[in-house]
Amino acid sequence: MSSRPMAFDLKLSYSLAGLNSRRVLAVCLHPELLGNTTLPLDVRLRAQRLLEVCNGGSVGSYTDSSGIPHVSQSIAEFIMRRDVGVHPHAKDVFISSDSERGLMVILKLLASGEEDTQTGVLTPRPCPHTLPTLLDDAGVALVPYQLMEDRGWAVDLSELHRALKCDRGGCNPRAIYISNPGTPTGNVQDWKSIEEVIRFAAAERLLLLVDEVYQDSVYGQGKEFISF
Ligand SMILES: Cc1ncc(COP(=O)(O)O)c(C=O)c1O
Repeated sequence: MSSRPMAFDLKLSYSLAGLNSRRVLAVCLHPELLGNTTLPLDVRLRAQRLLEVCNGGSVGSYTDSSGIPHVSQSIAEFIMRRDVGVHPHAKDVFISSDSERGLMVILKLLASGEEDTQTGVLTPRPCPHTLPTLLDDAGVALVPYQLMEDRGWAVDLSELHRALKCDRGGCNPRAIYISNPGTPTGNVQDWKSIEEVIRFAAAERLLLLVDEVYQDSVYGQGKEFISF
């Protein structure tokens, strides 16, 4: 294995939930709305472009399992604009209907063994409230690492080592889940923290599962979102 860890960015942006995106979706599902001038022009043009790249001009048609290639390409271009110096490939983008489904696909691939051989996932405490159930449903063990409340709920490297050491023997940790910006804490990891986590994951051969759903919700002076 190379020293570069495998990583999945679980969600690029929550902005798809915005009003215009819902309108685009409505037009895609009901193309007659393309002629409805009460809808903004950019909404109709976006929907028209999406319909053009769907087989048969319909969102009801089959697509690649990883999503519509045109959408994967625009996601790759978004990452390139956002992260200077990064050149993602559309073929490395896998689109799912929501982040939980995407996470479940990966967890099921990782899940194996029982008791001391059962796959484990290092999971922050506190963590998104739906995560423990999801891990349980996937058949993987939750390996908790405590976030540091007195440091604004930061991720602490020695705590990661402690959690890993403590649980090796109880299960087989194979991945680490990170929520950045953190839910429910709001902690935003800086470059140093991100680098520590990536080096830790590489050294311990852990798959990085990074949930960046709240990348547009960064609060606090001098705070900046950096994608893993
Ligand atoms: C940590 C986290 N990830 C992802 C999501 C979005 O989930 P989904 O894409 O499954 O709707 C949320 C929404 O509440 C969340 O809190």
